Amino acid sequence: VNKELWTAVEQYVADIVAPSDTVLDAATEAGVRAGLPTIAVTPTEGKLLYMLARLVGAKRILEVGTLAGYSAIWMARALPPGGKLITLEYEAKHAEVARVNLSRAGLAEVVDVRVGAAHNTLPLLEREKAGPFDLVFIDADKKRNADYFEWAIKLSRPGAVIVVDNVIRDGEVIDANSKDPSILGVRRLNDLLRTEKRVTATTIQTVGSKGYDGFTIAIVLSS
Ligand SMILES: C[S@@+](CC[C@H](N)C(=O)[O-])C[C@H]1O[C@@H](n2cnc3c(N)ncnc32)[C@H](O)[C@@H]1O
Repeated sequence: VNKELWTAVEQYVADIVAPSDTVLDAATEAGVRAGLPTIAVTPTEGKLLYMLARLVGAKRILEVGTLAGYSAIWMARALPPGGKLITLEYEAKHAEVARVNLSRAGLAEVVDVRVGAAHNTLPLLEREKAGPFDLVFIDADKKRNADYFEWAIKLSRPGAVIVVDNVIRDGEVIDANSKDPSILGVRRLNDLLRTEKRVTATTIQTVGSKGYDGFTIAIVLSS
């Protein structure tokens, strides 16, 4: 089994359960045109985020790591009227591309793109009582995963879902001697998950167009 097959199967299943549309395609194309990295979630993972939002009846969603707004569009589409998604992005240029993409998607009023390093903007959310959130998607600089996860718990209601992307990283996550900051970040999150009583979680490995990776899903029991 190889990446070519994983990609073909991903396209096959995505066509069935997570077909693209002009808005999602335009968002991806605008990102590419602006020179943004092509590291958005896959369509099937976007659909999973959409489904999780529906399952928890999300009215407030928080995302850490916007890029061009592709995953934000998937999640915001699951919100009921009056629902809100706040997404945090470090790069002003990424935020600008995302705002245009979200406007084109008719979601300018629903999604609030905030520019700044998440470790600075997350405390502001607490101060302005922006939460509690029903769904949090963590997909930014992986070295700070554990900090973002702590913030996600703090800003969530009991029963909320937290998703953390890219936690397998070609299997490198099991390398206890890794010096890679992203691996260290994921392992620090895993150390936290071993003992953290306020959540219960599982981690799923995935293969597809983005290679061999995976995500963690946690339910907040108390915050
Ligand atoms: C993997 S991309 C996000 C992809 C997006 N969630 C999607 O699937 O469409 C990660 C994003 O996090 C941003 N980022 C990196 N460090 C950050 C930080 N400290 N605070 C907020 N965003 C950050 C990057 O600029 C990048 O746009």
